[in-house]
Amino acid sequence: MKNALEQYDPLIYELIHQERARQCGKIRLIPSENYVSKAVLLATGSCLINKYSEGYANKRYYEGQQVTDLIETLAIDRAKKIFKADHANVQPYSGSVANLAAYNALIKPGDTIMGLALTEGGHLTHGWKVSATSKFFKSVQYTVDPETGRFDYDKIRDLAKEHKPKVIVSGATAYPRQINFDIFA
Ligand SMILES: Cc1ncc(COP(=O)(O)O)c(C=O)c1O
Repeated sequence: MKNALEQYDPLIYELIHQERARQCGKIRLIPSENYVSKAVLLATGSCLINKYSEGYANKRYYEGQQVTDLIETLAIDRAKKIFKADHANVQPYSGSVANLAAYNALIKPGDTIMGLALTEGGHLTHGWKVSATSKFFKSVQYTVDPETGRFDYDKIRDLAKEHKPKVIVSGATAYPRQINFDIFA
């Protein structure tokens, strides 16, 4: 028997099938991607997708939040426990949105941020030119040493002193070395 998607939209059904086969047939080495469990697939493909829930639990903009409030509160409690944190915000859909939320909490539009250039291992959201992070903020990009592929902390310090960024992003997407967070601080 055909399932609802197969019946209603056979082309999308087939393409999802192809993507599943692609994911199963190759080793994916993008660390921020994931193979979610069947339980997660079920939860994300559920009736929750029908519901607005702007605002925070017990402080919403739409009616009908009896259940979504419970779910968000549960997710917050679980995140706090797992990460041993006093607070957690579980609303960002992805890391990029979470980064934007962090900038928004720390600085104002037009302020300067400094991050590792995309071509050197940084992420789009670290101020790369095609990202909203370089449109909302002034972006200064540091690089790795072309010889060693490592951070040149003296150069990064000089750049920071020159531009005085309000935020220095010291993480990376592709920097397979230990980062000296003390020096960044
Ligand atoms: C360092 C870093 N920050 C942010 C992101 C963005 O995360 P997402 O793809 O979940 O938006 C990535 C993704 O690779 C990343 O490597």
